[in-house]
Amino acid sequence: MKGIILAGGAGTRLYPLTRAVSKQILPLYDKPMIYYPLSVLMLAGIREVLVISTPRDLGLFRELLGTGERLGMRFEYAEQPAPRGLAEAFVIGSDFIGKDTCALVLGDNVFYGQGFSATLRESVRAVETDGGARIFGYYVRDPKPYGVVEFDSAGRALSIEEKPAFPRSNYAVPGLYFYDNSVIGIAAGLAPSPRGELEITEVNNTYLERGQLSVGVLGRGMAWLDTGTYDGLLEAANFIETIQKRQGMYVSCIEEIAFANGWIGREALLELAREYRTEYGEYLRWVAEKD
Ligand code: G1P
Repeated sequence: MKGIILAGGAGTRLYPLTRAVSKQILPLYDKPMIYYPLSVLMLAGIREVLVISTPRDLGLFRELLGTGERLGMRFEYAEQPAPRGLAEAFVIGSDFIGKDTCALVLGDNVFYGQGFSATLRESVRAVETDGGARIFGYYVRDPKPYGVVEFDSAGRALSIEEKPAFPRSNYAVPGLYFYDNSVIGIAAGLAPSPRGELEITEVNNTYLERGQLSVGVLGRGMAWLDTGTYDGLLEAANFIETIQKRQGMYVSCIEEIAFANGWIGREALLELAREYRTEYGEYLRWVAEKD
């Protein structure tokens, strides 16, 4: 399976923070925000990743992440010239995806919780073997800013609505989606919505109509954090800091995950550790030298 991180958007809701720089490169405590969604793809076992961003910001991501070789991965980069919607990622990324299946994660979505890696790997397995699409629902107090999924009493998805004024449930759809190869054709056939975007919710509704959408619930033990407001950014950073200080283990450390996945060896990790004369570098050394 291939992975796409969409890190576009004008970011106007965080102005002036994002006036001159992409939101997904802003710090969340000790790492650039994009490390968090990148780590999600890595935990899913995905090694080839396309980063999509604005013409203005793409160079920053390239500078930050490079070819991926340092992580035993392969990164490609592509521009989204204007914010024309999440589903445009599959139009822009069609050559990259080729005949493969594909996961999309939004560059500002942060996930953390027990058992999440198993959920990710199971989602990849399900889409690779059975086809169709796998998305998630996550209970939130106010679902209005999100895609909202409604379930029947047996837990099957009934409808998905984008930013409904009157949500039919409290289950928001997080920015993490797994699709078979037909997503390319579905996205290419979409017309822009009233807000001028190719809506991911329409992609999901197409799979739903075809009886090929599975919606997993991310339980209350999972954290899916909001980074769309000043408060959300600060609270997410504080959350990461709290966990990391308490456990002494890092959240979404991409070098650690590459090592744990066997994509880089101990020597390569120590080499990366030497590049950072910071606590982050010390942590990488600790990871390389423990057990
Ligand atoms: C997008 C999607 C929405 C989803 C959300 C998750 O909204 O359109 O369905 O719930 O991401 O972060 P946006 O962030 O573009 O407003």
